[in-house]
Amino acid sequence: MNLTLKIWRQANVDAKGKMVTYYITDVSPDMSFLEMMDMHNEQLIGNGEDPVAFDHDCREGICGMCSMFINGEAHGPDRLVTTCQLHMRKFKDGDTITIEPFRANAFPVIKDLAVDRSAFDRIQQAGGFVSVNTSGNTQDANAIPIDKHDADKSFDAASCIGCGACVASCKNASAMLFVSAKVSQYALLPQGKVEATDRVINMVNQMDEEGFGNCTNTGACEVECPKGISLENVARMNREYLTASLKG
Ligand code: SF4
Ligand code: FES
Repeated sequence: MNLTLKIWRQANVDAKGKMVTYYITDVSPDMSFLEMMDMHNEQLIGNGEDPVAFDHDCREGICGMCSMFINGEAHGPDRLVTTCQLHMRKFKDGDTITIEPFRANAFPVIKDLAVDRSAFDRIQQAGGFVSVNTSGNTQDANAIPIDKHDADKSFDAASCIGCGACVASCKNASAMLFVSAKVSQYALLPQGKVEATDRVINMVNQMDEEGFGNCTNTGACEVECPKGISLENVARMNREYLTASLKG
């Protein structure tokens, strides 16, 4: 396939970025999107030009690093896949593909398509954990009976990979889907109940401090999420937050 790529180039956080047009030939439909980007970068390097910076790590849909806005959609046109799992067979010979970073005030551009998502780390650090007594009397987690329905819901929430597609897809740049997944995975389990009040208050406060927008229930986040995180987690987080606020 021969393709036209329109890629956002930005030297650093303070630089004024712009779309730059490139042409790439001999792209195999069996390549992953990132392999196509690698091939493009090899050509740029061969021409003595600066390669396009983009994040990636596992390339198997589990780390959440690959963050590209492709033809106006986070992670591109396929559903329930990350950019690294997107294949070039989803495009046609002669197509023009527009590639931008995940845009949000709370995700400043580092360079080109790479954005700083450390705001998510700080939200996690504010409460996305369970404290465990390691004195030697720790109860084996498998010894605590858990309703199958709750275990399944918790596992679904825990499949959030922290990619930020929900934020990039939201007109308000809201992080509610991400934060609600992290709150829900603990709220549903007995192990998470002990710190539930502080957890939801601290994580929501940190989310607001980082500058993410408010949720207005448009649902774009759920549509674009590569892991199918459900909006019911947002409803659960709102209930958890209300309960915690009344206790506080
Ligand atoms: S909720 Fe979905 S889109 Fe948002 S960070 Fe988690 S996996 Fe990515
Ligand atoms: S590179 Fe890890 S999810 Fe895409």
